[in-house]
Amino acid sequence: MPLNPQLDSLSDYPFESLRTLLNPVVPRVNDPPILMSVGEPQHQPPALLAETLAAHAHEWNKYPPMAGTPELRQAIADWLARRYRLPQAAVDADRNILTLAGTKEGLYLLSSLVVPRRKGGGRPVVLVPNPYYLVYNGAATMAGADAVFLDATRENGFMPDLAAIPRAILERTALFYLCSPANPQGTIASLDYLKEAIRLARLYDFVVAVDECYAEIYDRVPPPGALEACAALGAGVGDGLFDRVVVFHSLSKRSSAAGLRSGFVAGDPRVIGQFKHLRDYGGCQVPLPIQWAATALWRDEAHVEENRARYRRKFDVAEAAIAGRFGFYRPDGGFFLWLDVGDGEAATVRLWRDAAIRVLPGGYTARAAHGRENPGSRYIRLAIVHDEATLEAAFARLRRVL
Ligand SMILES: Cc1ncc(COP(=O)(O)O)c(C=O)c1O
Repeated sequence: MPLNPQLDSLSDYPFESLRTLLNPVVPRVNDPPILMSVGEPQHQPPALLAETLAAHAHEWNKYPPMAGTPELRQAIADWLARRYRLPQAAVDADRNILTLAGTKEGLYLLSSLVVPRRKGGGRPVVLVPNPYYLVYNGAATMAGADAVFLDATRENGFMPDLAAIPRAILERTALFYLCSPANPQGTIASLDYLKEAIRLARLYDFVVAVDECYAEIYDRVPPPGALEACAALGAGVGDGLFDRVVVFHSLSKRSSAAGLRSGFVAGDPRVIGQFKHLRDYGGCQVPLPIQWAATALWRDEAHVEENRARYRRKFDVAEAAIAGRFGFYRPDGGFFLWLDVGDGEAATVRLWRDAAIRVLPGGYTARAAHGRENPGSRYIRLAIVHDEATLEAAFARLRRVL
């Protein structure tokens, strides 16, 4: 059967690799399993969600507009302007925003839009932070680009070193995926860092896509956003303020609504306009009741503040239990711990076998690229999503076993 040969260069999805690693291992303890491998919120979304879905239950029969209802796009535009203190009317609900069925599908499809057949005299490049959310690499590969992995290690503050990207690579770059707060390390890109990434995108003519889906889960300081960085820079060389920049946001983490499948992409009107065109062929529409629920959620901040406070308490538990061990640091954003355990795979097996705790080996969310070591192989990733009592139990077991 003929298949797209690019599929062969996709690595195993991390949770598939995790099953292969742990399926033969039977926990030796009777403790109830604690699953910290998946970044799935455990809090319930606010009642507002179910109430709004119920109020619009008569609209399941209708085909929804691909771009999103005007009401949803306006709620998003208002939220972006408030959250990132953007100039009045900087975000136009019609030109700058498209709704998505969760950010995953949009992040994936973007590469089909912005990766040409050739760039800078060679095969196009997609820049991917390493470790990375697997979709970036999948999107790069399936679009026929060379994924170039930018290691984000403790030495460079867990953010790719922009100054170290060779000029020959930048010239071939069509797309740069950045993630802030970063999954898995929780690092927040500073406004200056974002400005520099945007400056490079404009200089070398590529699109920078900033995945901001953890933007509302932070410890102390709200993470700056790429649209905010655009506003700080002023107009670009092309069509206005958001020239060559798009951001992705989601309700999955902000509103603990991963099952709703609702997010958006916003930014450069040329990208958004062409993305709408492409999505008319191959995008996922979001059902109308879900669009109404999303409208209500983007207009409400109370549940987001409550959610954030709960994550802070979880990280208090983590800090009290393991500060000073495994290179512990309190992440600035997101809800993962990235712990240096020496050998991530071995620690994962030990934690499952001797403590019934399931975590993700850091190496599964990164890769050894360009002759360098896998920057995740010393680490494990833990999703800090459970209630405080479960977390206390988990850390007590972890300290016993590792
Ligand atoms: C970094 C990152 N980006 C995007 C997503 C996709 O989120 P969703 O499709 O639920 O919006 C995830 C989900 O875990 C993620 O970790």
